[in-house]
Amino acid sequence: MCGIIGYIGQKNVTEVLLNGLRKLEYRGYDSAGVALLEDNGIEVVKCKGRLAILEEKLTGNCFGGRIGIGHTRWATHGEPNDSNSHPHLSNSEKIAVVHNGIIENYLQIKEFLVSKGYRFYSETDSEVVSNLIEYNYRGDLIAAVTETLNDIEGSYALGVVCTDCPQQFVAARKDSPLIVGLGKGENFIASDIPALLAYTREVYILEDREVVRVSSESVEIFNLLGERVEHEIFHVDWDVAAAEKGGFEHFMIKEISEEPHAMQQTLWPRLQGGEVVLENSEALLAAVADCHRINIVACGTAYHAGVVGKYLIEKLVRVPVEVDVASEFRYRDPLVEPGQLTIIISQSGETLDTLMAMREAKRKGSRTLAVVNVVGSSIAREADDVLYTWAGPEIAVASTKAYNTQLAALYLLTLAFARAKGLLDTASYLAYQEELRLLPDRVAEVLAQKDAIQKFAAAHFNAKSVFFIGRGLDYALALEASLKLKEIAYIHSEAYAGGELKHGTIALIEPGTLVVCPLTQEALFDKMLSNIREVKARGAVVLAITPAKYAAAVAQTADAVLTIPDMDSLFSSAAAVTPLQLFAYYVSLMRGNDVDKPRNLAKSVTVE
Ligand code: G6P
Repeated sequence: MCGIIGYIGQKNVTEVLLNGLRKLEYRGYDSAGVALLEDNGIEVVKCKGRLAILEEKLTGNCFGGRIGIGHTRWATHGEPNDSNSHPHLSNSEKIAVVHNGIIENYLQIKEFLVSKGYRFYSETDSEVVSNLIEYNYRGDLIAAVTETLNDIEGSYALGVVCTDCPQQFVAARKDSPLIVGLGKGENFIASDIPALLAYTREVYILEDREVVRVSSESVEIFNLLGERVEHEIFHVDWDVAAAEKGGFEHFMIKEISEEPHAMQQTLWPRLQGGEVVLENSEALLAAVADCHRINIVACGTAYHAGVVGKYLIEKLVRVPVEVDVASEFRYRDPLVEPGQLTIIISQSGETLDTLMAMREAKRKGSRTLAVVNVVGSSIAREADDVLYTWAGPEIAVASTKAYNTQLAALYLLTLAFARAKGLLDTASYLAYQEELRLLPDRVAEVLAQKDAIQKFAAAHFNAKSVFFIGRGLDYALALEASLKLKEIAYIHSEAYAGGELKHGTIALIEPGTLVVCPLTQEALFDKMLSNIREVKARGAVVLAITPAKYAAAVAQTADAVLTIPDMDSLFSSAAAVTPLQLFAYYVSLMRGNDVDKPRNLAKSVTVE
């Protein structure tokens, strides 16, 4: 949420900043801007709207400086307009700042600065930072930034340039991600790795409350007491192409197409010699053997993966599982205590509410296990145990392959936990592992039905409202499918438990209403079929998703049927979600929406 970039070196600064911002636009696209340190002062160019508008504004300008900072915004304080865009200059135009996060005590600071004669030109919380640094500045930029950070409450990743410092800039972080990229005769800061991949693979991952002085030849990191801090260099071994569209029209369709491969990466290395082998899991599995309750905490799509996790774990591990959205969990004084395990699910590993919920669980004595995609992210670093999903970079704002790999990770955990509890006999343990080994190919088979899904989307892209209903694991799936449609197609949709619909929501079913019904759970098949008949009787148009062996039976009731391969219904969610992701993708496309950057959303939500 908000992307920041900074550069010092011999390259064309504007170009480096724009290249970086292009890779960070998924973090917000309400406005974009840069501040360039020139011989005669700081040049700020910024504007409301997508990065392309800023690029146009910058075309033809020749800036010659060696230092610059840039920003792409997801608005929190103040509407998206030119003056609320970052960077923000201090009153004397000596200092410019880009900020990601929320300054919680900005009103008090603003009042204080106004009493000292400062004027404010935006509605943002961030503008107080440039002015407070200026107020605290007595010839030493890093000292002024440090003093300012000691006065600030809230979260921040910051980049700061100052006209007195033509050889350096300063950056800092707390609860918002920031990395420092290391080059030869040049250095960088960025909110995320893809912004720097074209330039360097050597980075420092900053910790909370660290301030860094960046020159072209050196990077010095300090804590807020002004003491030097040493970090190990983190080497990024991603394939650069993984963060590019590679011939696909959108990142979303590329990422859906990558699901089989991504799931292989999650699953196959951990299925070895008839065992589920999780990295460094001895202590974790010992703790699970005695564990009396598991909490799962996450946001958005990751939360929906957690709902699947609850069904699976309760079924095979026989431990009560509480699943909650992180923003609720963290503030309700949750009943967490030693002896429990809290599983935190996050693609980015930086979602602020999720990070804070994890800290709350830790504080109360729970062991924490992170299921995370981004290596070295805050959640991954702070959890007691980590299971990486290895999905590769996910750029589209709507999460797809990350979800499938989160499910894959939960499948592995469920089997490992059930085994650790002594609840899984060897024959079932081996049979389940074989199912998991085959899962990526099953998803690949589903992908081959793209054309049928596109046709169905063409018939329904004008729908006003869509319902998703399912039972058991299919209900968990319905939640995610409905979210996808809302996020990128902007169609009102509801996800309901099949049996619950008749307690009110069925009143909304009219002739022609589209109802999408995943129907993969063998034990609930007949019950679900009755629910389908109930909505059909009210005139609904029904799309069912079901294993091939049931297709003929379901086709007698549903208007259209998509099939997934016949498989153990415990793991069918990972295959059945793919057609629903594709459905949302095609509907969004047909409605002319920006599929990868849906309105009002951002991928990495680093504010509450
Ligand atoms: C945002 C994204 C969602 C994502 C959620 C949680 O809302 O738009 O796609 O599921 O954050 O993100 P995380 O990185 O923690 O999985």
